[in-house]
Amino acid sequence: MAHLFNRNVLLGVSGGIAAYKSAELVRQLQELGATVRVVMTRGAQEFITPLTLQALSGNPVHTELLDAEAELGMSHIELARWADLLLIAPATADLLARLAAGRADDLLTTVALATAAPLVLAPAMNQQMWRDQATIANVAALASRGYTFVGPASGEQACGDIGPGRMEQPAIIAAAAAGVFENGLLEGKRVVITAGPTREALDPVRYISNHSSGKMGYALAQAAVDAGARTTLVSGPVNLSAPDHARVLHVESATQMLEQCLQLLPECDIFIACAAVADYRPAAIEQQKIKKGPEHINLQLVRNPDIVAAVAASEHRPFTVGFAAETNDLLAHARDKMKRKGLDMIVANDVSNRSIGFNSDNNEATVLWADGEQVLAMTGKSAMARQIIQIIARQLGSPAG
Ligand code: C5P
Repeated sequence: MAHLFNRNVLLGVSGGIAAYKSAELVRQLQELGATVRVVMTRGAQEFITPLTLQALSGNPVHTELLDAEAELGMSHIELARWADLLLIAPATADLLARLAAGRADDLLTTVALATAAPLVLAPAMNQQMWRDQATIANVAALASRGYTFVGPASGEQACGDIGPGRMEQPAIIAAAAAGVFENGLLEGKRVVITAGPTREALDPVRYISNHSSGKMGYALAQAAVDAGARTTLVSGPVNLSAPDHARVLHVESATQMLEQCLQLLPECDIFIACAAVADYRPAAIEQQKIKKGPEHINLQLVRNPDIVAAVAASEHRPFTVGFAAETNDLLAHARDKMKRKGLDMIVANDVSNRSIGFNSDNNEATVLWADGEQVLAMTGKSAMARQIIQIIARQLGSPAG
């Protein structure tokens, strides 16, 4: 059964009588593990109050695009980045038309344009409106953009008509929303991902490390699991719970990380090096705690092995992906790093921008490979992870990639 653990679902509610079922939908999404925020159109508020959906979702409901105070709390762009999935239920005929036209004339349509998250639509309208040529053309246009439709169901309608146009049951919509994250892009592949920082011991109580949160590596592991891959995380010390169905092997130092990765090589088709590996480690680990003494002491450091380069140079090398965090000449340095380390692909981050990278929930990157590149606009780390997995699948020639 598909689930929504660790997923941020933005539920868009537009103005139809089925809006009253959105309350139940919030519950169903939460039961599958999602964190839910709600955006309502003006019409939706005629059918159900924001207060109801606020109480159920446990989050303030967003209703206005041009409201300075609301924008201060969580702007429409932040909402768009926050969402791992935008689910619009009910989606009225008018909402479908506005989406199809690419309009951004209220908060919901603006967020729909501004998000990189997948979109799921649960239409609800009178059966004749659903059958109208205009709606048929809008649905076709939206489906061709890769949006997922759930329903509508057929049956007796609020207006007394009988036919297709009833919003699908909330439980079915929630299950379809969860299903969006499962794709077969890497079915049968074995993926190893390094994540988090390494710790390089100085003595029994001290170490050198860095601020890597591990969020990007863990998001990649989730995306790989969702793509059907047998996924192993080789993780430095982080404060994150591992995705369901991923194997996690905990390590501390770069040397341990290298050893673990080399051991996994015979069962690895794709290697993604996301860890912030310490470049140096203390030349010797003192057996006893180093005592406070002179005003100055010198630490001697030695270079750590380059894990991703070692993997890429191995005999039966997997498809190897690295990351490059740069502060200047991003693409040139990243491409150079890709060649130097013998990688198939590199994800380049501009770390001079403090709103992305290390501890942030957002990221912005360019993915480079031998004869191409793709820019990934700023978005949440899980949406970015899904896009990276899609690009890897495409490079590997997955039919669905
Ligand atoms: O050389 P630099 O640290 O910028 O390279 C970053 C890439 O190399 C990342 O993919 C990182 O995980 C990987 N790396 C590694 N082992 C190291 C240093 C970096 O696998 N010792």
